[in-house]
Amino acid sequence: MSAFAPFSGLTLQSTKDHNFRQLLSSHFINHVQVSTVPYAIPFLSVNVPFRVNSRKLKPITVSAASTIESPKISFRGKNPKDINVLVVGSTGYIGKFVVKELINRGFNVIAIAREKSGIKGKNSKDDTLEQLNGANVCFSDVTNLESLEKSVENLGVPIDVVVSCLASRNGGVKDSWLIDYEATKNSLVAGKKFGASHFVLLSAICVQKPLLEFQRAKLKFEAELMKEAEVDDGFTYSIVRPTAFFKSLGGQVELVKDGKPYVMFGDGKLCACKPISEQDLASFIADCVLKEDKINQVLPIGGPGKALTPLEQAEILFKLVGKEPKFLKVPIEIMDFAIGLLDFLVKIFPSLEDAAEFGKIGRYYAAESMLVWDPETGEYNADATPSYGKDTLEDFFQKVLKEGMAGQELGEQTIF
Ligand SMILES: NC(=O)c1ccc[n+]([C@@H]2O[C@H](COP(=O)([O-])OP(=O)(O)OC[C@H]3O[C@@H](n4cnc5c(N)ncnc54)[C@H](OP(=O)(O)O)[C@@H]3O)[C@@H](O)[C@H]2O)c1
Repeated sequence: MSAFAPFSGLTLQSTKDHNFRQLLSSHFINHVQVSTVPYAIPFLSVNVPFRVNSRKLKPITVSAASTIESPKISFRGKNPKDINVLVVGSTGYIGKFVVKELINRGFNVIAIAREKSGIKGKNSKDDTLEQLNGANVCFSDVTNLESLEKSVENLGVPIDVVVSCLASRNGGVKDSWLIDYEATKNSLVAGKKFGASHFVLLSAICVQKPLLEFQRAKLKFEAELMKEAEVDDGFTYSIVRPTAFFKSLGGQVELVKDGKPYVMFGDGKLCACKPISEQDLASFIADCVLKEDKINQVLPIGGPGKALTPLEQAEILFKLVGKEPKFLKVPIEIMDFAIGLLDFLVKIFPSLEDAAEFGKIGRYYAAESMLVWDPETGEYNADATPSYGKDTLEDFFQKVLKEGMAGQELGEQTIF
């Protein structure tokens, strides 16, 4: 069988025939950083000038087995060092940890990144290479299928698994569709084209009750991913739907430390979650690469311990700082009023579309639990929300009290 999977359910936008020898003889690997040692890729049976910068990157190695086995059926039987995992969204809050975890487990990680990555593009190429040390970093554009395919093609190695941690950095309407749907789909199309037979998607538990554009965009991609596994029986997926991240719950730690009240909506019990740390979630996502019980599953996942309401989170925090609890309870109706006003204004000023969406996002997280939704009872169910890992919110609060929120910054609209 061919090392590259044929297409089934997806529309391929590039019709180019891929001749690896031809490509490799022209511009092989633009940005995977390189040494001058000629590097033999048995898969291609040619010597390729694969220059590896040994300080930051380990060379991509492709076992000879790749020449005769299709990764579609064989990658799970291979040694992790012979499994090529393409990670998109590698520079995000979760993506960075996923890259590290996969490297620690011995996988051959190819991390796709932008030349300016991170919140507001604050990281240079060198920062990114440092941050993703141990991965083969490939600078490319996931929003452009043709250039993504070209970049993957230029790697000259087959892909076994794609892991997507892509997400809109601001949750705006157009950006959500561009990233949570289109760019994520591009990574599926490009990954499959070069052999990927498994796709691990970082999604979100809140897509169960979709009221926001980014949730609709994610759901559309989830549906297409599942369809792909239906029409191609050699292809599998794992859809990971985590509850709240620590970064989303740490915003008030320093305020409370400074003696300010903890702000909450309603009675502080409108919503609950089982917060999960970056490391624990990265470990769960890495499990999805090989574990058979994660194949073709939608996997809601939370951190250890019981579900916590904002009121309970605040109580943990006040106990840690040793201060008498002090709350500022804001009626949720205030948000409804603001959203109603923005929805009205957006009809006159379409440019307010994202502002209206951010209001809805804020309202959603103020009132909806990040737990498994039971359609039969019409309620969230904490017991049905699986727990994983060992890092607790209390540990996280303690760390922030000592070290501050560095590394826990929210995205560009301070919502995610
Ligand atoms: N916050 C929560 O509590 C929570 C809870 C459950 C689930 N989730 C979900 O978890 C997922 C990941 O979250 P996260 O916090 O890790 O995301 P993040 O830190 O915002 O990272 C987003 C990633 O996507 C990339 N990206 C965004 N726009 C791009 C563009 N135009 N071109 C190329 N790459 C682009 C970013 O690259 P750059 O670094 O180059 O920008 C980054 O690698 C999201 O789907 C979110 O909905 C979040």
